[in-house]
Amino acid sequence: MTMLTPTADSPPGGLPFGLAAVSGLPDEAALARLAQDLFRALPGSEAASPSAPAVGGLAIGEPGPALDPVAAPSVGQAPVEAGPIAPEFGVPEAYAAALPMTAPISAPAGVPGSPYYFLGEAAALSSAHQVPAAPADNHVVAHPFELPGEIALRRLLAELADERSLPEPAPPAAPGQSGYYFLEQSPPVPRADATRFPAFDVQAVRRDFPILSERVNGKPLVWFDNAATTQKPQAVIDRLVQFYQHENSNIHRAAHELAARATDAYEAARGKVARFLGAASAEEIIFVRGATEAINLVAKSWGRQNIREGDEIVVSLLEHHANIVPWQQLAKDSGARIRVIPVDDRGQILLEEYQRLLNDRTKLVAISQVSNALGTVTPVKEIVELAHRVGARVLVDGAQSVSHMRVNVQAIDTDFFVFSGHKVFAPTGIGVVYGKRDILEDMPPWQGGGNMIADVTFERTLYQGVPARFEAGTGNIADAAGLGAAIDYVERIGIENIARYEHDLLAYATQRVRPIPGIRLIGTADDKASVLSFVLAGYRPEEVGAALNEEGIAIRAGHHCAQPILRRFGVEATVRPSLAFYNTCAEVDLLVSVLQRLARGKGRALG
Ligand code: ALA
Repeated sequence: MTMLTPTADSPPGGLPFGLAAVSGLPDEAALARLAQDLFRALPGSEAASPSAPAVGGLAIGEPGPALDPVAAPSVGQAPVEAGPIAPEFGVPEAYAAALPMTAPISAPAGVPGSPYYFLGEAAALSSAHQVPAAPADNHVVAHPFELPGEIALRRLLAELADERSLPEPAPPAAPGQSGYYFLEQSPPVPRADATRFPAFDVQAVRRDFPILSERVNGKPLVWFDNAATTQKPQAVIDRLVQFYQHENSNIHRAAHELAARATDAYEAARGKVARFLGAASAEEIIFVRGATEAINLVAKSWGRQNIREGDEIVVSLLEHHANIVPWQQLAKDSGARIRVIPVDDRGQILLEEYQRLLNDRTKLVAISQVSNALGTVTPVKEIVELAHRVGARVLVDGAQSVSHMRVNVQAIDTDFFVFSGHKVFAPTGIGVVYGKRDILEDMPPWQGGGNMIADVTFERTLYQGVPARFEAGTGNIADAAGLGAAIDYVERIGIENIARYEHDLLAYATQRVRPIPGIRLIGTADDKASVLSFVLAGYRPEEVGAALNEEGIAIRAGHHCAQPILRRFGVEATVRPSLAFYNTCAEVDLLVSVLQRLARGKGRALG
């Protein structure tokens, strides 16, 4: 049922911070066209990958690709002022539709009824309606409506009112012709149950996260640092309390009731992770502290066993330091060589260059599914397929993907997949290595101690099978149970619902931030998730971070543990808001208003 319903939280007569979501969904192809249209409009988008200059693969130590800095708009440009807001996005479009179509040029006293005194400064979205480009068939799907204005929005919503189910999943796509990133990797795609999840109600979701009621510097907290860590729903917090109140014990090795309860909790979590990732069995899931430890496990176990002098390890320029340093250490110890897949000026993997890097010396490809610094979604399925053709193994770093899109390790056919629980609404200190069973069974342990042995004498040790062989010592039992609860929570909401909502929210944020004078977006790939990285002329990123923090807005400012990719764009640091499904358009507006204020201030000072 499609409805626009102000929630109880909506300020009377003011901006509707809470809107029941729109559940009826329009034609996928039209929506995909609009999504592509939006991303095409971003700076640098003319340099789409097919025509982007080819940059050869690099070895560590070789000079990086030539930088092609994007000129930042002059800070002296006229400040963006408030104006009409055209509703153009899926769930966020419901928000936008409820905004007044004509806002005052400036609203010094703020918006009546709004708790945010400076929302009146909010800039207009462009009301110019653009003709959709050719259908996007390799881009993130969005559900933005093709709407010139509120009347059309309401007509479309009325037409959709009777729709009760989500569109049919896209058919499996051939490499290079993929459809929607969160559909293509998991055929058959579990469809969200429209009766179970009749609408994505962001305000209802927000009530599940107690910390979102926190105030910072006297302002409501806006958590835009989700790429660093996500907040925890009450269900996860409750699960930890329940564990420590009713189940706490070590696992596997005691003849008492609580050991059985704790073991059940830990192993049940393993089963949930296996289902969540689409693994063939729970034995393919190893618990570790996080993605960093996960990659180190693979490097120090599989890597030491399989990488020799002269071998090549391929990583991309997008990688987090956690997916660079362990491979560098391994290369140094073994005499192997690191090769680097370059990206184009929008931060997209250059697949042709990647293909040129592959050869019979390539033993491993390590690639992020989503870049933590730029938000680029990489074509992991194609990357795995190409690596396998030369006999290489692949590790996919899913730290930034699992909370934003459906992942299916069997559909991707990756050999290893790693992620951190705390980035998917679970506690810190728990993470996962997925490995194909036959590969794990050939791998030696990387740490020795209790729990991982079958029998020990002073002459020799017999190890457990997988996965226990890789879990020496007492694991993080309670937080594994918490990870299980987080996965239950995400699956109750529906990862496809999350992906759609977040995509629309990112499109909304991009369109609002991009026109601010002095803003330069860093990373404008067609397929992006969560991250909006930028620099603001005249300010260091940490100054922007401090100004946002004064208003209760948490973002990360810095190098994001991904220095090589930032240097590719000629910067050492960016401002990085990163979105999750509990963020709202109103929060984006708040961020934009602070950025506009900064842009105006600097413009005057310099002007
Ligand atoms: N990897 C985390 C980030 O991107 C810490 O912020």
